[in-house]
Amino acid sequence: MVIAIDGPSGVGKSTVSRAVAARLGLSYLDTGATYRAATLAIVRAGVDPSSEDAILSELTGHSIDYSEIGVLLDGESVAFDVRSDEVTRNVSAVSAHPRVRSEIVAMQRRWVDEKDGDAVVEGRDIGTVVFPDSAVKVYLTASPQVRATRRSRDAEASGKSLEEIAGEIGARDHADSTRRASPLRPAKDATVIDTSELGIATVVERIMALAMGTGH
Ligand code: DC
Repeated sequence: MVIAIDGPSGVGKSTVSRAVAARLGLSYLDTGATYRAATLAIVRAGVDPSSEDAILSELTGHSIDYSEIGVLLDGESVAFDVRSDEVTRNVSAVSAHPRVRSEIVAMQRRWVDEKDGDAVVEGRDIGTVVFPDSAVKVYLTASPQVRATRRSRDAEASGKSLEEIAGEIGARDHADSTRRASPLRPAKDATVIDTSELGIATVVERIMALAMGTGH
């Protein structure tokens, strides 16, 4: 069973997804981290993030994987490095290229296959594109103010004002939801949960109820 949890940044996706995976004893895949690892490889190599061909050619020399300790680039844990400002600034550009997405989506599908098709998968297009037949599809939202406040507690946002963070979130949302390939949007059959006024535990309980309702 795949549980797809999509939504923009700062809605609590990672915390909620990890908790649901732990409760159900399922593997957890953070697909944002896989796009970030690809972006890290591009940034390190000094490749132009607007050139799809150059990105694809650089990526053929690298392996991206995901493990209990987080995302791996060429077998090395880069969970910390992928949160850098430079990666965050470039990840929307890298992940907007359709052929780059196909490569990374293929890796994500293989990864879930290796888990016998049982996983909680977090991202932007999981319910719409990557696993359109997911047993449970959830789309988390929250008001821009709440999201900026939550992001301000993350290490990657340290030293920035709330306004700066809100501006960055707005720019990334815009890029992610207006791109041609797999834009950020709820699947037609997704359950939309506004987390602005809800605690993590309540959101987790709602998703657990949806998962139990599938009979798995
Ligand atoms: O969840 P995150 O902030 O780590 O994601 C980083 C970027 O990766 C996000 O701005 C858009 C992209 N992304 C994507 O295009 N598709 C996904 N399934 C997950 C993330």
